[in-house]
Amino acid sequence: MLVGLLVYLAKPCIASELAAPGGVAVVESSPIKNDNSKGTKMSSIFTFIGGSKGQWSVKKITGVKGQPIAEVSALRIVESDVREKNSEEKWLFKGFTSNTRYATSDEVASLKKLQPEIGRKEATCAAMILVKKSDSWWQLAQDQRRKIFEEQSHHNSIGMDYLPAVARRLHHSRDLGEEFDFITWFEFAPSDIPKFDELVDRLRASEEWTYVEREVDVRLEQGQEE
Ligand code: HEM
Repeated sequence: MLVGLLVYLAKPCIASELAAPGGVAVVESSPIKNDNSKGTKMSSIFTFIGGSKGQWSVKKITGVKGQPIAEVSALRIVESDVREKNSEEKWLFKGFTSNTRYATSDEVASLKKLQPEIGRKEATCAAMILVKKSDSWWQLAQDQRRKIFEEQSHHNSIGMDYLPAVARRLHHSRDLGEEFDFITWFEFAPSDIPKFDELVDRLRASEEWTYVEREVDVRLEQGQEE
């Protein structure tokens, strides 16, 4: 316990114990148009670029399952469709925010009530978790996916236990032909790292995660943009 606390204090924003089942880490377009004509923004595209400069400094990259991504020291996030990375940058992933697929109206209402905004001052730690699901997932019908997602895996109800500590934003990438299907983004205070690790462990133990064929977990802390 004491040792864990010391490790955590020495390395803020790093998971106290990052579960990486069977996985060893690491080392190694067309723009979305928003129809704002009716005053409603349908989606925003975000580009996540790994290199040596950016708003977030990378504390640890863990290849949880499947092929890992290259090590970088910083993450740059741009709210637009960036086509090319600089020569020093190693990877670039894109995703767009969208309407919900699985959440019911009651779940959406509870989420709205409890979910904090991205960008809170105290939330100086973040996680970018890249997820690719298997063909067998995508071959299921929508109602079958919903059943696995919530009735069997309790994804949202587990997640709700961690609100409002954790802020989240889901980016869809599969329809852009990207390597990963989703870029998931989370922000939390350093004191909530153990909670976030527990959340991730619970989701990874679920039925839904048996359909995850590739996952990379990137932990970050707010850094200076150069
Ligand atoms: C902070 C607590 C969390 C809450 C409240 C939450 C809630 C949700 C909800 C409601 C959706 C479905 C959105 C829709 O209806 O389309 C969703 C999707 C998703 N979440 Fe979470 N989540 C949480 C944490 C996490 C974590 C920690 C991860 C990754 C380890 C994760 C990965 C995903 C993925 C990959 C999807 C897309 C699933 C799919 O469409 O197949 N979530 N989440």
